[in-house]
Amino acid sequence: SEAHGVDTFRKNQFPIAELATRIARINRFVDPPEKMFETAGLLSAVLSVALVHRANKSPSLDLEEYQQLYKESITKPHQFWGRKARELLSWSRDFQTVHSGSFEHGDNAWFVEGQLNASYNCVDRHAHADPNRVAIIYEADDPADGRNVTYGELLREVSRTAWVLKQMGVRKGDTVAIYLPMIPEAIIAILACSRIGAIHSVIFAGFSSDSLRDRVTDAGSKVVITTDEGKRGGKLIGTKKIVDDALKQCPDVSHVLVYKRTGSEIPWTEGRDYWWHEEIEKWPAYISPEPVNSEDPLFLLYTSGSTGKPKGVLHSTGGYLLGCAMTGKYVFDIHPGDRYFCGGDVGWITGHSYVVYAPLLLGVTTVVFEGTPAYPNFSRYWDIIEKHKVTQFYVAPTALRLLKRAGDEHVKAQMKDLRVLGSVGEPIAAEIWKWYFEVVGHEEAHVVDTYWQTETGSNVICPLGGVTPTKPGSASLPFFGIEPAIIDPVSGEEIHGNDVEGVLAFKQPWPSMARTVYGAHKRYMDTYLNVYKGYYFTGDGAGRDHEGFYWIRGRVDDVVNVSGHRLSTAEIEAALIEHHSVAEAAVVGVADELTGQAVNAFVAVKAGQDANDALRKELIMQVRRSIGPFAAPKAVYIVPDMPKTRSGKIMRRVLRKILAGEEDQLGDITTLSDPTIVERIIASVHAAK
Ligand code: WTA
Repeated sequence: SEAHGVDTFRKNQFPIAELATRIARINRFVDPPEKMFETAGLLSAVLSVALVHRANKSPSLDLEEYQQLYKESITKPHQFWGRKARELLSWSRDFQTVHSGSFEHGDNAWFVEGQLNASYNCVDRHAHADPNRVAIIYEADDPADGRNVTYGELLREVSRTAWVLKQMGVRKGDTVAIYLPMIPEAIIAILACSRIGAIHSVIFAGFSSDSLRDRVTDAGSKVVITTDEGKRGGKLIGTKKIVDDALKQCPDVSHVLVYKRTGSEIPWTEGRDYWWHEEIEKWPAYISPEPVNSEDPLFLLYTSGSTGKPKGVLHSTGGYLLGCAMTGKYVFDIHPGDRYFCGGDVGWITGHSYVVYAPLLLGVTTVVFEGTPAYPNFSRYWDIIEKHKVTQFYVAPTALRLLKRAGDEHVKAQMKDLRVLGSVGEPIAAEIWKWYFEVVGHEEAHVVDTYWQTETGSNVICPLGGVTPTKPGSASLPFFGIEPAIIDPVSGEEIHGNDVEGVLAFKQPWPSMARTVYGAHKRYMDTYLNVYKGYYFTGDGAGRDHEGFYWIRGRVDDVVNVSGHRLSTAEIEAALIEHHSVAEAAVVGVADELTGQAVNAFVAVKAGQDANDALRKELIMQVRRSIGPFAAPKAVYIVPDMPKTRSGKIMRRVLRKILAGEEDQLGDITTLSDPTIVERIIASVHAAK
């Protein structure tokens, strides 16, 4: 079985040729270096860093200082991180040990004796300095709605909500499920948990009730926070109803706290459901922050892996917060007074680190945007940036592809305050990079293509805005404390020198790395740390070019990236198999112009079942219901059988080739238990196309 993609990868089941085709697939969107510069039309490969520093805010460093600091972070990590941790975070108790543990034993710990509180660091210290400073700009789905929340107000709201949670029985170390759309209350709820030492477990509000149920159960959450409804792109989303459906199978949930967003009639369970506005009124506007140990967990965030079961990636407090503050300061060049807008959702890691923690730790204003880039029209992002004088903007290339395609006439706003333009979640093609730089940034804002993962906590390979040189399409150079290694997937040996390709790993621990998979430490070890002994394995292929710049090629395991959303093919297959007509399912990611990759499903139906359009639609519905609309296959092919080895393993490689129209390059198919099946699958695909 392909239960463990990374493992199979390690065992040479993906020969170099397979890696090469995977890389080639992705390369359709990331031009090879030579072609890239042509596309980008740039005279020089390396953009000059001497861009205008807008508003007279110059970055905290120059290139030479970066090089020195980087060197220090690698050769003297204790000295470097110890200093930075004291500089950027407030500790209620100092630490003596900067780092202990190793990749080998999976016991990394940072700032060991230190104690601190995340909400104190994000709210109190700024509220004390300047209670009227705006912490949150809430840009509602309807451009006419919305409000600002100051740091003073945020402290009161977080305190009251923390009281409510406490009174509901939440204690230090308990997990709280947060199923909220992009409204200020999502941030308030997150910080209220951290204020009392509870572990927040945010579940993206696009997940179905089944997915929500699984995550609530796995984390053992007894309290769920949600809204009556959500509002996005002019549409209403029945959040509370989804929660109710999920909780039918979560007997341990004792309380549901419901924020009234739209005021519609909703189902109500007396004794379990409580209105947010009624509860917070009962409690004082201040509660002391609970000091926690640096290594105490801050949050859980479920992400897709190689198996059907999502993993609860667990982050600790001190190290994670430091990663956010450091990258906010150096990658995004955040200065006091900035207005930072990250378009990511709080349901994913980008929202955690860059809607909530990085900007608030640094005491600036964060924009919380409830809507979509296309509503009410394609100017929405640009209008928000103009209206709020946004200084840093951060978004996934998928949104940029959509907006570029919509036409430059929508980008009328001048956006003169923009200094840094971030990209995240998937490779950004040179031509999109160039558009971002020229049309959005007027060649005056720095583009930072940031590579990282839920597990890395914060950016790991990325330019420092305005400091380090960039090349369109390359995530560029490692962040402080990150020592990348390119590994030959066949031999398992590190490949030294430049101009090399392989899989990407890191050689030394960094503060914001995930500490474990909740309740499954062995899975954590096997996925990240046991693959190549002494390294953290990312699961991505990457190249290091002749100048030492990194080019991320994409996942080498069974994870697909659709519109910057990380999905597991195994999870989608599991959803399809739940349908009574389905005998077998295989899901592959195929290149897609708009979404980067798209999900395509192959399904073999049980004897006596008709393969027709109605069934195809039902299967798509099945995935929407089981996981969420964002995971729905773009195409479903009903085939007579799967291409299988004699031991019964589905050869997805063959399916990928067929979809790519490379039927003449299927490789050796004589090992299939029934080689004639290939012709029949090709015929079914052609018939459907
Ligand atoms: C991919 C999102 C290319 C990569 C922050 C990684 C990227 C996965 C980039 C993690 C980038 C993220 N260029 N690929 N700049 N950033 N990825 O956990 O495959 O949702 O392993 O974290 O996204 O996705 P996750």
